[in-house]
Amino acid sequence: MTDAIVVEGLVKRFGATTALDGVDLTVAEGSVLGLLGPNGAGKTTVVRILTTLLQADAGRAEVVGLDVVRDADEVRAAIGLTGQYAAVDEYLTGSENLEMVGRLYRLPKREARARAGELLERFDLVDAANRPAKTYSGGMRRRLDIAASLIARPRVLFLDEPTTGLDPRSRLAMWELISDLADGGTTILLTTQYLEEADRLADRMVVIDRGRVIARGTADELKAQVGGQRLELTVTRAELLPDMVERLRPLALEEPRIDATARRLSMPVTGGAEVLAEALRRLDGNTAEIFDVGLRRPDLDDVFLTLTGHAAEEPADDDETPAAPAETVGSAR
Ligand SMILES: Nc1ncnc2c1ncn2[C@@H]1O[C@H](COP(=O)(O)OP(=O)(O)OP(=O)(O)O)[C@@H](O)[C@H]1O
Ligand SMILES: [Mg+2]
Repeated sequence: MTDAIVVEGLVKRFGATTALDGVDLTVAEGSVLGLLGPNGAGKTTVVRILTTLLQADAGRAEVVGLDVVRDADEVRAAIGLTGQYAAVDEYLTGSENLEMVGRLYRLPKREARARAGELLERFDLVDAANRPAKTYSGGMRRRLDIAASLIARPRVLFLDEPTTGLDPRSRLAMWELISDLADGGTTILLTTQYLEEADRLADRMVVIDRGRVIARGTADELKAQVGGQRLELTVTRAELLPDMVERLRPLALEEPRIDATARRLSMPVTGGAEVLAEALRRLDGNTAEIFDVGLRRPDLDDVFLTLTGHAAEEPADDDETPAAPAETVGSAR
């Protein structure tokens, strides 16, 4: 299988900040790579270099066999990008936005219009097609933005946090759409803060932190790296948790983790059902307050926490004013 994306030794500095410190990765043609990492890890910087918006200080990158610096124009013609911040033109309507991007990709007028119509339908924006984008909700803008990146049927698609700011229903719809594109042979590099999203969509994942790759593999490989089982317990009142931690700590392989908001305690254990029975014995008298208890395999959140030493942070709400300039890739820009 050939690689649609090849990245070798990418380094990027912004003043004293080293955003990328030697990143290597490959994405096989037709596959989905999830690029994960905490805020500031360097994900967007990788995406910007691969989409020709930024040049690396060292290293090289190829997209569909084209060098992102030397062959930048051809790269731009072959890819689609949905940046982290929506890049729609506020004063144009939904359909005008899509047609404009189609024209930037040099589609004939009639084809740009037809393609815009198709995408408006697919993204459930037909009713809003003739309204200026400034009247759209955050989720609608996000959908319009992703539709725009698909206008020219790119071979490689870059999605920087594609579902941030979407409600659960729109997120599910977006996941289906991304799966469909992947099934249709589009190569996709996707960054996300939602580990469930990576788990569902990505064939392989690369985890970066402070500009370096700290892990890579399939979801199962990453989970196996963390290993073991988790005992998880949800209680009716968060105040009960500290006492429970005291009682259960002897069974835990690592310090139990408390999530006060979710009223949940989670700890790695070995021993299967026996350890569950033992845990309940140790909580005698307190069990009436237990809402839910069980053993589970580690999920990607555990992987992330173990690898980076901190949890995936909640993404910022994308409905707010963008904190950075919007970006679009079009060959004519
Ligand atoms: N144009 C810039 N000027 C200065 N510093 C920058 C610039 N772009 C990125 N950085 C810095 O580079 C580092 C990596 O940023 P990047 O945006 O790639 O992170 P990220 O992984 O996308 O984070 P997030 O999850 O918050 O989107 C951060 O320390 C950031 O502050
Ligand atoms: Mg980013």
